Amino acid sequence: MALEVSVPSSMASLLLVLCYGMVMVGVVNSARFYELFRPSWALDHFIYEGDLLKLKLDNYSGAGFESKSRYLFGKVTAQIKLVEGDSAGTVTAFYMSSDGPTHNEFDFEFLGNTTGEPYLVQTNVYVNGVGNREQRLSLWFDPTKDFHSYSILWNQRLVMFLVDETPIRLHTNLEHRGIPFPKDQAMGVYSSIWNADDWATQGGRVKTDWSHAPFVSSYKAFEIDACECPVATTAADNLKRCSSGGGEKRYWWDEPTMSELTLHQSHQLMWVRAKHIVYDYCTDTARFPVTPAECVHHRH
Ligand SMILES: *[C@@H]1O[C@H](CO)[C@@H](O)[C@H](O)[C@H]1NC(C)=O
Ligand SMILES: *[C@@H]1O[C@H](CO)[C@@H](O)[C@H](O)[C@H]1NC(C)=O
Repeated sequence: MALEVSVPSSMASLLLVLCYGMVMVGVVNSARFYELFRPSWALDHFIYEGDLLKLKLDNYSGAGFESKSRYLFGKVTAQIKLVEGDSAGTVTAFYMSSDGPTHNEFDFEFLGNTTGEPYLVQTNVYVNGVGNREQRLSLWFDPTKDFHSYSILWNQRLVMFLVDETPIRLHTNLEHRGIPFPKDQAMGVYSSIWNADDWATQGGRVKTDWSHAPFVSSYKAFEIDACECPVATTAADNLKRCSSGGGEKRYWWDEPTMSELTLHQSHQLMWVRAKHIVYDYCTDTARFPVTPAECVHHRH
């Protein structure tokens, strides 16, 4: 199999890339960061500090970056430490997205808060250009004190959101019930910080206090262990290339054990749902008088 990759710095990582489509950046010095990503805006709001990459939001600008490549299936992880102290009104996002009006998107959005009040993590799934699938949860730790890993695992059976390897959300493929599932569009990996004080904190009631700027989110490591798609390839070719065939080509995310939660993971998800969910579009009957189809069939 021939994956086209930007040339990694060592033979070892070259071999990893060829065998597994995996690109891993253990530390974020700027050279390694630029192997995988490029700034999408406000280069002057990027700060490199040893192993850390920091994105800064002030009253002039936020900042964001995107992967150079597009991927179909696999797992992406970022280790992030969120804005400390007063982060009200700010949103830090880490997400995957394809392009165009019928794009698919898997989002982590970290909604800041006033000093000492808890962040919320909002996740969303867009399918064919339509989102409105928000869930929000509180975390079982303070995400501003340390780095924690936030991952999106994606294969033909499911999309799973994980925090420190604990599943917090599962979006399963229900195509057999006529419900579309995102599996035909390669996606980029993105992160950004911006001002969203019209909605982010306590429903938009708390505004960004610019006297506390700059607001800084830090990144320590990125892992992209996914099937890389050449830009000019058709969706059908990408799907073929990124699916495990009958022969030697097998991606780990297509293994049967990856097609559903392990027993341990389903207990973890039940715990998260019992203790940490504060909003779920599936149960918002004011917004959705008719329960969204996938909510009827998703078993959590
Ligand atoms: C942004 O903040 C700086 C520092 O607080 C201040 O000097 C400047 O006037 C502000 N600019 C705008 C456009 O509000
Ligand atoms: C912020 O803190 C308030 C008060 O504890 C809480 O109700 C809210 O859910 C927290 N998070 C956000 C993003 O508003």
